[in-house]
Amino acid sequence: MAVTMAPESRLPVRDDGEIVGARRAARALAATLGFSETDLTMIATAVSEIARNMVEYGGGGEMTFAVIDGDGRVPGRRGLRITATDHGPGIPDVERAMQDGYTTGRGLGLGLPGARRLMDEFRVESAVGVGTTVSMTKWVV
Ligand SMILES: Nc1ncnc2c1ncn2[C@@H]1O[C@H](COP(=O)(O)OP(=O)(O)O)[C@@H](O)[C@H]1O
Ligand SMILES: [Mg+2]
Repeated sequence: MAVTMAPESRLPVRDDGEIVGARRAARALAATLGFSETDLTMIATAVSEIARNMVEYGGGGEMTFAVIDGDGRVPGRRGLRITATDHGPGIPDVERAMQDGYTTGRGLGLGLPGARRLMDEFRVESAVGVGTTVSMTKWVV
C-alpha cells in the first residue's frame, strides 16, 4: 500500500500561467526527493504535457502532487505521484489517444504517449461527458 507522506499539494490548471506553475511545483517537489536532473526534466515535461491537455481539451482542472512511500513490493521506495483531473468532455477512445501522432487538435499527438514514456506508471481514466483523470508516478531510482 502506498502511503502519503506529506500533505498533498493541489493546484488549479486553467491557463498558460498555471501550466507553468504546475511544472515548477512538480519540479521543486521532485527536487526535494532526490531525483536526478534528468528525472526532474522528465517529470516537468510530463506535467507540462498533461497540464496543457487539461487546458486545451479538458476546460481546465486541477493537479495534485503527492510524495508516496512504498509501492507494495519495495517498502520505503519513494516516489512522486501526480494526479490531473478535469471535468471536460472526456476521451472517447483512450487507447487511440495514447498512440503516437493521434490528435484532435493542432498538436503533434505526442503528449499522452510521451508522458507515459517519461514516467514509471501512467494511467488514464476517462468518461465521455464526465471528464478525465491522468495519474502518473515516478520512483526515485
Ligand atoms: N484532458 C483531456 N480531455 C479531453 N481530451 C483529451 C485530454 N487530453 C488529451 N485528450 C485527447 O487526446 C488527444 C491526444 O493528446 P496528446 O497526445 O497530448 O496530443 P495533442 O495534445 O498534440 O493533441 C488530444 O488531441 C485529445 O483529443
Ligand atoms: Mg497534448
